[in-house]
Amino acid sequence: MARVFITGSADGLGQLSAASLADQGHQVVLHARNAERGRYAQQHVPGAEHVIVGDLSDIDATKNVADQANALGRFDAVIHNAGVYQAPPKDIFRVNILAPYLLTCLMHKPRRWIYLSSDMHLQGHANLETFKTDMRRISYSDSKLYVMMLCMAVARKWSDVYANAVDPGWVPTKMGGPGAPDDLQQGYETQTWLAVSNETRAQVSGRYFHHRTERRSNPQASDVMLQERLLSLCNDITGIPFPQ
Ligand SMILES: NC(=O)c1ccc[n+]([C@@H]2O[C@H](COP(=O)([O-])OP(=O)(O)OC[C@H]3O[C@@H](n4cnc5c(N)ncnc54)[C@H](OP(=O)(O)O)[C@@H]3O)[C@@H](O)[C@H]2O)c1
Repeated sequence: MARVFITGSADGLGQLSAASLADQGHQVVLHARNAERGRYAQQHVPGAEHVIVGDLSDIDATKNVADQANALGRFDAVIHNAGVYQAPPKDIFRVNILAPYLLTCLMHKPRRWIYLSSDMHLQGHANLETFKTDMRRISYSDSKLYVMMLCMAVARKWSDVYANAVDPGWVPTKMGGPGAPDDLQQGYETQTWLAVSNETRAQVSGRYFHHRTERRSNPQASDVMLQERLLSLCNDITGIPFPQ
């Protein structure tokens, strides 16, 4: 059985992933923005081992989330699930990009990293020149391209881990809205499969999946120069370098 940490697991796909893994007998650690949301998360996934609390739109609080996770020991898999869509660009930037960057840098390295992206990353642009100076220009699509780029950099640099990205489809969560057309169950099954499956198809790295099927990602995500620039800018902003 595996031990899995899932960010943003108070609601939506994070909560559903957590409940599914706990039902399968895996050890799950939840994460919520504050204590109240943490209690809500625990009520909905009573089989979870623990809840870590911290607001991912705050850089110091995110560093503290990594400390809390490390205090619990090593995980087999981490699902970077937390995300915001209709939010101020500052929050999109911090929650969707800087938080997965910081947790990747600071957490004891698990065997498997899963990054929630979106098919909207295909419309994203790597505007790295304005990345630091004008974050108002960062759109949700850009943020999902950057997190894909981070995932591909992790896969390239760390040959001892599996790092993969997922497009869950447009599904009816708080983010997706009630009219979302895709299947909710299929929206979380790929992340949980990548986190725990022994199938050879799940033990790969640097891939982008939709409904357990590999898809082609935006070519900018695989551009090594862009990846290195992204990591360097994230280092400048957070003070945390990407571990070599
Ligand atoms: N739904 C879709 O159609 C869709 C499509 C493509 C990609 N995705 C991606 O899938 C992932 C999960 O989305 P979802 O649909 O499940 O969204 P959701 O229902 O809005 O859930 C997002 C989760 O992230 C948490 N979160 C947001 N900001 C946070 C912060 N500052 N600190 C800590 N936690 C925070 C939320 O906490 P609260 O509950 O307290 O707000 C919630 O638990 C996201 O990365 C999203 O971009 C979703």
